[in-house]
Amino acid sequence: MIDEIKKYIAEAEDFQAKTLEEVEQFRIKVLGSKGLLKDYFAKFKSVPNELKKEFGQTINAWKNIAENKVAELKESLESQETNKNEWGDLTRPAAPIALGSRHPISLVKNQIVDVFSRIGFNVSEGPEIEDDWHNFTALNLPEYHPARDMQDTFFVQTNPDVLLRTHTSSVQVRYMEENKPPIRTISPGRVFRNEAISARSHCIFHQVEGLYIDKEVSFADMKQTLLYFTKEMFGKSKIRLRPSYFPFTEPSAEIDIYWGLKTETDYKITKGTGWLEIGGCGMVDPNVLTNCNINPKEYSGFAFGMGIERIAMLLHQIGDIRMFYENDMRFLEQFKSSF
Ligand code: DAH
Repeated sequence: MIDEIKKYIAEAEDFQAKTLEEVEQFRIKVLGSKGLLKDYFAKFKSVPNELKKEFGQTINAWKNIAENKVAELKESLESQETNKNEWGDLTRPAAPIALGSRHPISLVKNQIVDVFSRIGFNVSEGPEIEDDWHNFTALNLPEYHPARDMQDTFFVQTNPDVLLRTHTSSVQVRYMEENKPPIRTISPGRVFRNEAISARSHCIFHQVEGLYIDKEVSFADMKQTLLYFTKEMFGKSKIRLRPSYFPFTEPSAEIDIYWGLKTETDYKITKGTGWLEIGGCGMVDPNVLTNCNINPKEYSGFAFGMGIERIAMLLHQIGDIRMFYENDMRFLEQFKSSF
């Protein structure tokens, strides 16, 4: 009987399989609940005492060898199987790549650029780290001018001549220094102010600046340009220019659009007046033209500045400016369908 078992051991050692099914058949035949090993274990009782030890050892060795063989073959066949699956069906179309979307600020900025480019404005840019001349002095805000306090400034290190621009009006100066009239340009960009962050204001935001310089440019030209813009951008056709003060324009005005009082939200965002402020504007102060080497006796012009977040909040009914900077996918994904 021991010789029989030894034959089975040799058989188990030599056993090879091409499929998991063959391994399973071998397992059932040898190790299964009605398998060969079970029969031989049952015969143990009838083995003469002096042979019991050797019989026991041989049958246990057989069991171990068979078990190891099954485990080994199973593992190698299974890993072959996964390798096969890794290649998969090579004719299948690829899984679609998840597409991102443009940020709402970029979308609105592009829209603004589009509206102004239709009436001949080009786009200009300037640096975010500015010097005192371009951000203040050239704009008729000399040192110690009280209006400098209107915008809390971030200075870079302790050098008062290096700062983060507080408005895009600095690009006006750069553009006039480098280009001769006629000038029609808009300058969108990021600006910085040392302000507390809340639902309505942030220390980093975006503005778009407009500048129009030519011979005999009038206040009426400015109003018409702004009216065209509000019609195209918001579909609203009533604006008013409320007298205001900016050091770089004279006269200066605040731009209000008539938003209406149709819905509860209209009441909320216009504080019950129907009117909404979207920016500042005015006729470029002759001092500013002189500072930029443009003769104010020959040329005149207008400028305006608006907050891009403000416009985006109005267009998309966004109640909190902080949404723009938190990168919450649930917010950003809502702009996927826009271009
Ligand atoms: N720079 C101003 C601000 O940040 C906005 C502004 C007002 C710009 C009047 C202009 C302007 O060009 O003419 O508050």
